[in-house]
Formats: sequence, structure tokens, C-alpha cells
Amino acid sequence: MTTDTPFPIDLEKGSDYYWCSCGKSKNQPFCDGSHKGSDFSPKKFTAVKTETAYLCGCKKTSNSPFCDGSHNNVKLPVEEKIFSALVQPDNREIDITEEESILIASLRNNISHLSACGGTGKCSTCRIEILDGLENCHPRGELEERLAQKLSFPSNIRLGCQTKLTGNISFRRLLLDKRDADLNNQITEQKLESVGTIRNLTILFCDIKGFTPFSESLSAYDVIFILNRYFSIMREVIIRHGGEVNNYIGDAVMAIFGLKESRQQSLRAVSASVEMLKEMDQFKSYLKKAYGRDFDIRVGVHYGEVISGSVGSGDDRKLTVIGDAVNIASRIEAINKEAGTRLLISETVYDQVKDKISVRNYLRLKLRGTSNLITLHEVSDINIGALDLNVTEVERTIEGKVWFRTLPIVELNLGEKKKYILNEKEILLINEGEVYAIENLCPHMDLPLDIGQITDKATILCPYHKSEFCFKSGEVKKWVGKRPEEYEGECKPLNTISVQKHEDYIWVQMLNT
Ligand code: FES
Ligand code: FES
Repeated sequence: MTTDTPFPIDLEKGSDYYWCSCGKSKNQPFCDGSHKGSDFSPKKFTAVKTETAYLCGCKKTSNSPFCDGSHNNVKLPVEEKIFSALVQPDNREIDITEEESILIASLRNNISHLSACGGTGKCSTCRIEILDGLENCHPRGELEERLAQKLSFPSNIRLGCQTKLTGNISFRRLLLDKRDADLNNQITEQKLESVGTIRNLTILFCDIKGFTPFSESLSAYDVIFILNRYFSIMREVIIRHGGEVNNYIGDAVMAIFGLKESRQQSLRAVSASVEMLKEMDQFKSYLKKAYGRDFDIRVGVHYGEVISGSVGSGDDRKLTVIGDAVNIASRIEAINKEAGTRLLISETVYDQVKDKISVRNYLRLKLRGTSNLITLHEVSDINIGALDLNVTEVERTIEGKVWFRTLPIVELNLGEKKKYILNEKEILLINEGEVYAIENLCPHMDLPLDIGQITDKATILCPYHKSEFCFKSGEVKKWVGKRPEEYEGECKPLNTISVQKHEDYIWVQMLNT
């Protein structure tokens, strides 16, 4: 044992140990305690629990000769291994530690490596082609394997955010045309952050049936007037049910439920759909009277995983959602046409609302572009009293502290981290068995951490200048690539936020409350 290297030992609860430096026992740094009185008096202690303790000579802790094995005056037990990667087409050689993903190392080296989902293995924008040294890449994990199979990646196409190294490699970034780079530069000009957040939301599509023949016989002014009136009726129903109209596509409406209020999101979407059909029935009789003709609507609802984020450029940027779930909702709406129905919901929606609705029929079919059979349910009505539209508690005071509701627990899977905006402050929620929350700001230069990598040592690596923090305690593990004591008083801990789970939600106690 040197004076500055902690020595891990396994202790058994209740056993006596004699620590000394006699050098006589085979069981260093322990002896049998039999040579009391010599220059090397052993120090006896009784283990109070079964654990790994750390002996060291730092003498900085109150219970010397023990320390916690991670104090700042010891050298890291094993020196960090650093590999090199030649990045194409940038033609740059960068360093990558054994702990970092390729994505984090690229970003730290100012390479415009795209990462739309924030490094969570869900978008594939960080994909790279390994040109040399595939054997030096860790095998694919479960997340990467799933995406690789879905997109039929050959073995040398890897996700930068999921791949760590055991040796040197060379690779080519694959998403990098001028537009990609410009877009990424716009995004990264001031700060790097994830482009979207993965959410489980309910998507409603509503389209008009028979609008073309209806509109052909009217003046353009009439058509615009009727459309505006129709949109305002439907929008009002959607908003009253806590949904948001996200897009008008020609005469179709796309609405999202669950963005701000997750509770009963699918039930609210189905209830809104039922009411939209009832409103349409009334609107039809108005149209018939005023114009001698009418049209009808078709609605499709689906619940699933989407990426929500800002899309567009310059002033046109707006919040939207993209992903398979959106496409499926749109296809479900279109199936009404062949099925002769008005309102169809997917199985994922049905499972959440089946006790609260009446269904007329169901159908099994393959959606265009997919090979799996799915079941759709035709909804006829929603049960009276099923919906609680007053589920709006987002803040509560417990023992004098104010807690805020964030994501539903089911939306933060094990191993995931998600950004959440609360009272204009960004926080990061991390599920590593327990849920933790931190402010989305690296204390080094107040830059966002959401693209940072979570390590298996319960730390987060900042993508900018190689700082590392414990996300449980906020402790600085590395500050700008070095041990914190080398910077003396300069290091600032990460702001951690208290978390509790309550009524299926993650609640946080914001700083300064
Ligand atoms: S998969 Fe999205 S950044 Fe890697
Ligand atoms: S902002 Fe510099 S290390 Fe995080």
C-alpha cells in the first residue's frame, strides 16, 4: 500500500481485524494482532457491516486508516486508458478515453457529430462507419442492436453514442452533408443540446371525408369561411380536452395529448374524438341548410413513443412531434375510409381506456408498410363520468417545501435520461434504478449537459471540456479533464435536485424553493 493509493478490503460484519505495518503476516495489511507492544502495534477494529472498506495513508478522513476510496488526494486507482480515432471526412485525429462514447469524444473535440435524440440510442443520426479497428469497438448493447436490426445496419455501422473503445480506430461520420452540418452548426453555435425529447404521447388525426366534391361546387371565399369555422369548432373541443392542435395539413388536423398533462391523455383524446363527431353531426345540418350539401370527418387515435422537439428553421421553428407513432396515427385515420368507420383507435389506446368506452366493432389488419397484424377498435361512445378534466395539480407543498410534478414514471425507462423544462429552468431526469434529477447546466461554463454521457459509475460526462460529476451527490470527479484538487478552489459541484415518486409521477423539489 502506498500512502496515496486506497487499498480495497472486504470486511465481514462482526469480525475483528488487526491492521499494522509489521510486514510479517502473509495477510498484509493485516496481521493476527499477536505482537502488541512492538514498534508495530497493530490497530484493532471490528467491522460494523459487511462491505468493501478502503485503507489508505491519506490521513484526510476522520476514521484513518480508512477513507471512502474516492477522496481527492489519491491517484485514480487505474490510470485512464486513452485511444485515438481518425475521424473522416474531417481528417482529424481525436483522443477517446475508454469510458467515453465516440459521440462524446467527437463533441468534446468540436466535431459536428449529429445527435438528434441526445445520445439515447433512438434516432441513429450519430451513426458512423468503422473504417478500421472494428475489433476495438465494444459489441453492440441491447439498445443499439435493436436499432441496428430495425434499420438493417451491417456490423461496421455503429451508433456513435453507444459505442465505446478498447483500442484505436478510424471512422467516418455518415450524416454530414452541408445542410446537416449547417443545421448542426446552428444548433451548436451557442450550445449543444439534444434536438428532441422522447415522450409517450397520444396522437389524434382528423381528416375530412368528401371535401373535394363539397368544395368544387362553392366559391373559394365560401370554402375558406367553412374551413375556418370547421377548424375553430374542432380546435375548441381539442383544447377543452387538454390537447394541442399541432398542425393543420390541408383540411386535416393533427392534435397531441399528453405534452403538458399526461394523466388520462388517451381517454381525453378518445373523448375529444367522440365529441368532434357529435359536433360534426350538428355542423352537417348547418351545412345542409346553408349550402344544400355537407361533408363528414374520420378520426384515428394512437398512443406511442415520439420525439418532441423544435423543427424548422429561423422564425419558422416550432414544436412538433415525429416518429412511428405519428405515422401510425395517420394511417389509422385513413383506414376508416376502407372500413366505413368514423373513429378508430389502436390497441395501445384501447388498453388504457377499454373500461371507460363503448366499442362497436374491431378489425385486424396489416398497416401499410408494416408486416405485423394490428387490432383497431371502432369507438361509439365514452361512458358518462369517465373523464376527469380537472386533473391539473402540478405543484404541491410538503413539509414547507414546494414540489413540482414532471414526467410520469413510466416515461423514464431504466437507463434513460430526459430533459424537462420546469418554470423556464431545464432539468435532467435520470433513471438508474432510482430516479435522480440535476440541473441541466455544467457548473464549469453553464453549458447544457443533456447530451452528456451517463457512465456506469453514476457519473455524467460533460460533452465540452471533459468534466465529470456524480449525478447523485453533485461531487466533481474530474474538472476539465483533471483531478479536482489540481484546480483547488475552482471546482463547483453539480446542482442536484431532490426527487420523489408520487401518484405515478416524478416530483422534484426545485432549487431555491
Ligand atoms: S442514436 Fe440518437 S444520438 Fe445516437
Ligand atoms: S462546460 Fe466545460 S466541462 Fe462542462
